[in-house]
Amino acid sequence: MTDGEGTTLPNQPLHFFDDSSQAELAQEMAQRAARRFSTKTLRAALFPQHQGTMDQPDGYARTKGECGDLMTFYLRVEEERIPTITFRTDGCDATIACGEMLASMVMGMSLDEARQVTPDDLLTALDGLPPNHIHCAGLAVKTLWDAVESYRENGN
Ligand code: FES
Repeated sequence: MTDGEGTTLPNQPLHFFDDSSQAELAQEMAQRAARRFSTKTLRAALFPQHQGTMDQPDGYARTKGECGDLMTFYLRVEEERIPTITFRTDGCDATIACGEMLASMVMGMSLDEARQVTPDDLLTALDGLPPNHIHCAGLAVKTLWDAVESYRENGN
């Protein structure tokens, strides 16, 4: 096979990286992430336990951030408390970390307690975020507040 200019192309797909350079690249990416994000943030982003949708949630809100990312929270409410909460986002790893950490923070809280959680509380729980990701915490918390309000607006 040729490329149209007479150059013979290999029959096998091109491999730009051999195994060792792939491992080096993965290590470099991990080191860069570790320099930018705390261990708590990386753990929440990489191993989220509350990511997903919920059938017929008692509270629900979806917010589009100024960056264009979407955050959605789904609440189950029993006796004014939140026994179950899930989130979905199409945002970056920091946004996933915010959704995950916030969900784990408010699970079991009363609605009033959840409504009082602030973006600063979330940033503290994550051991901070880089300056260009501070807004991710605001997006997550605003969406949670709206989900609580949606439950209340439904006459509950
Ligand atoms: Fe948009 Fe995180 S980068 S919410």
